[in-house]
Amino acid sequence: MSYENVVFPEKAVFLVTGGAGFIGSNLCEAILKKGCKVRCLDDLSTGKQENVDIFLNEPNYEFIRGDIKDLDTCLKACKGVDYVLNQAAWGSVPRSIEMPLFYCANNIQGTLNMLEAARQNGVKKFVYASSSSVYGDDPELPKNEGREGNLLSPYAVTKRADEEWAKQYTMHYGLDTYGMRYFNVFGRRQDPNGAYAAVIPKFIKQLLNGEVPTINGDGRQSRDFTYIENVIEANLKACLAPHEAAGQAFNIAFGGREYLIDIYYGLTKALGVNIEPNFGPDRPGDIKHSNADISKAKQLLGYDPGWSFQQGINEAIEWYKSNL
Ligand SMILES: NC(=O)c1ccc[n+]([C@@H]2O[C@H](COP(=O)([O-])OP(=O)(O)OC[C@H]3O[C@@H](n4cnc5c(N)ncnc54)[C@H](O)[C@@H]3O)[C@@H](O)[C@H]2O)c1
Repeated sequence: MSYENVVFPEKAVFLVTGGAGFIGSNLCEAILKKGCKVRCLDDLSTGKQENVDIFLNEPNYEFIRGDIKDLDTCLKACKGVDYVLNQAAWGSVPRSIEMPLFYCANNIQGTLNMLEAARQNGVKKFVYASSSSVYGDDPELPKNEGREGNLLSPYAVTKRADEEWAKQYTMHYGLDTYGMRYFNVFGRRQDPNGAYAAVIPKFIKQLLNGEVPTINGDGRQSRDFTYIENVIEANLKACLAPHEAAGQAFNIAFGGREYLIDIYYGLTKALGVNIEPNFGPDRPGDIKHSNADISKAKQLLGYDPGWSFQQGINEAIEWYKSNL
């Protein structure tokens, strides 16, 4: 299953914050394909102008360059909006350990501003990006909503705080909020560059350039790598979820488990290169294994991810081959 059959009212208006980023730009694209209007709000702090430029000739697309740390900007951006997909935040566990104050202002106050702006503008549904990092050090697998451990990074604290604030807005102000706990998303337009790049695009780029990638730790860590198409499906379905499911957060993953070392050799094989990796130290704030129980999202949102890791990685590789 995917999101072909998800239908919105003809004149529905979406606001995607962080719409110039990886996940946000894919959400904008999917909404445009549905024939709806989408407004993208982004300060281009980690996002890219080129992820805006690709849509500028679409009559249903509007770009506002602005910062969600500014409440006035959020209030203006929410005018006439039916659905908010709040993706704007800074990612990266290690960077959050270096910059705790910025993460608090950007990822917590920013989302709180968006919740307030959505409430004041009578937005129908507020869907927002949370993260599997909220599971912290809880060792049990698969990860279940309701069984969270001690948080391991300032980034995780920001996502947990966003969930708590969203819950308050559902409880006290009747705003329907739905938290998307993404598990290691990958796919087209994910940035392969920089010290904090995600592992899949980074490895693909390095291998295509004949460089030697470094694996943090022994490579035997596992993750529930989730293709972008599944994440789009979850967001769109959450916009149509019943009121009874509001004020909660949901695991958004495929429900599989991939080992980093296997991914690495899968990529070298697919790209036809013979490069042995370097191994570096473990990263602080990282957990060894993570995979998701997705039954709650299936039951309450009708989420039914159609893209396995293998299908997704094949598509992603093809995309990077022609877009790097
Ligand atoms: N990619 C993943 O695997 C993953 C996993 C878990 C959670 N998430 C969350 O999903 C969301 C999107 O992540 P992504 O991978 O697309 O990252 P990204 O960096 O590609 O996109 C984030 C976008 O938000 C924008 N932004 C950041 N702060 C802003 C601000 N104050 N005002 C306006 N715009 C701002 C950036 O410019 C960027 O375009 C984030 O909230 C992230 O924490 C992502």
